[in-house]
Amino acid sequence: MEYQNLLIELKGRIQYIIINRESKLNALNKATIAELHTAFDTAFNDPNVGGIIITGAGQKSFVAGADIAEFSELNGEGGGDLARNGQATVFDLIENGSKPVIAAINGFALGGGLELAMACHIRIAAETAKMGLPEVTLGLIPGYGGTQRLTQLVGKGRAMEMIMTADMITASEAHQYGLVNHVVSQENLITKVEEILNKILLRAPLALASAITAINAGLKDGVNGYDKEIEEFSKCFQTDDLREGVSAFLQKRKPDFKGK
Ligand code: COA
Repeated sequence: MEYQNLLIELKGRIQYIIINRESKLNALNKATIAELHTAFDTAFNDPNVGGIIITGAGQKSFVAGADIAEFSELNGEGGGDLARNGQATVFDLIENGSKPVIAAINGFALGGGLELAMACHIRIAAETAKMGLPEVTLGLIPGYGGTQRLTQLVGKGRAMEMIMTADMITASEAHQYGLVNHVVSQENLITKVEEILNKILLRAPLALASAITAINAGLKDGVNGYDKEIEEFSKCFQTDDLREGVSAFLQKRKPDFKGK
C-alpha cells in the first residue's frame, strides 16, 4: 500500500509509523486517519511485526491535532460521524491492539495528537514536547477519546483543569502527572523508545496480547477486569510459549518464544 501521509518502515520486528504532514504540524485530516487505520490493521496482522512505534515527522510536532481546516464544513451529524469513525477505526484499534504500541512524542501533541498518544500503550516524550487538549478554544471538546483517557491517566481534577483551561503542559509536567512514562532529550527519543520496545519484544507475544486485553478490561463499562484476567491467564496455559518460558526458567536458559 502506498501512503500519502505516513512513512512506514519495518526494522527488525519493529514497525515504525511516522505521520508525515510536517508543513501542517502532522495534523490528522480524514485521509491520514484512514491511512492510520490501514497501517495499524496491517501491522497487527503481520506476523513479522512484534511491536509498533508511532511518531511525527520533523522535530517540531508529534501531531498538532485534528485538521481544523476540515471542521468548518461539518454539522452535528458530520461531527458525530468524524468522532465515531476515528475512535473505532484508529484510537480504539490501537488501544485494543494485540501488539505493544509506543508513542514517541517528539514535539506538540495537541488535541487529536495527544488523544492518539493516549490511545497508545506507552508514551515517551522528548523534553521539548508540549501537550494539551485545546479544543474548547475552538468551541469544541475532545472527540477522539480525550475526555475519557486523560481522566484515566491523570485523574479527574487535572483532566478538568487541562481540558477547561486548554493550557499546554511541558514534558516534565506530563511526567509528573503520569501522562508520559519517561522524558528524554530529543536526540535520544527514538533510542529510548527502541530500548523499551526491544525489551518487551523479548517477552512472550501472546502473553503481551493477554496483558493488554486484561489491563484494558478494567477500564471498560460492563466488563469485570478480574474475570477477564482469569480468562486471559487460563488462555496463556494453552500456549506453547508458556511451556517454553517455564522450561527455559527451569533449565536456566533464555526462552525462545514463537508466539504460539
Ligand atoms: N489543523 C490544521 N492545520 C494546522 C493545525 C491543525 N490542528 N495545527 C497547525 N496547523 C498548520 C497551521 O495552520 C500552519 O499552516 P500554514 O503554514 O499553511 O498557515 C502550519 O500548520 C504551521 O502552524 P503555525 O500555527 O504557523 O505554527 P506555530 O509554531 O505558530 O504554532 C501551534 C504551533 C501548535 C501552537 C499552532 O499551530 C496551533 O495552535 N495549532 C492548533 C492546535 C489545536 O488547536 N489542535 C486541536 C485541534 S482539535
